[in-house]
Amino acid sequence: MSIWIFGYGSLIWRPDFCHVQAHPGYIEGWSRRFYQGSPDHRGLPSAPGRVVTLLPQIGSRCYGMAYQLPVPQEEEILARLDEREQEGYDRIEVCFFPNQLQIEKIRVLVYIANPSNPHYLGPLSLPAMARHILSSKGPSGDNASYLYELAAALRDLQAQDTHVFQLEASLRQLEDQGTQGI
Ligand code: BEZ
Repeated sequence: MSIWIFGYGSLIWRPDFCHVQAHPGYIEGWSRRFYQGSPDHRGLPSAPGRVVTLLPQIGSRCYGMAYQLPVPQEEEILARLDEREQEGYDRIEVCFFPNQLQIEKIRVLVYIANPSNPHYLGPLSLPAMARHILSSKGPSGDNASYLYELAAALRDLQAQDTHVFQLEASLRQLEDQGTQGI
């Protein structure tokens, strides 16, 4: 039995590990939300950015990508992901449904930041979250690019995600307002 990882954030457009195969699809009962603070990737410890986590929600689907790890490197890749996601994320196992109906459902590992973790920020209005994202930047790049790249990757997958697309629209509006006076 090989190990599969489900990506719903930057792992959708930039899986930085070797994989044997990748499939677009979804997990059920979870919603993607920009509710997790990022003190190490898209922000700083003194000014954390906002990145995605998953919240349990009955009837919801979260679209992303599932990656099968190469057996000889499984443990090494998992250790690297654990290290990368050490700021608040736990690893859990869920069921993944590939978009391609000919492929059977797969058990996948996914990183989730629970509301009890110290970096959890929780909900704010869309304009307030967009302002926060626009002002944040960390070692992995600016927070606005993270949101734009996620929205673009979801469009490429033809995946629906009202929260991400509304937040993207709010960020674009804010940036347009900012450049109108120039
Ligand atoms: C991801 O799917 O890119 C991801 C999201 C949160 C933590 C780790 C990975």
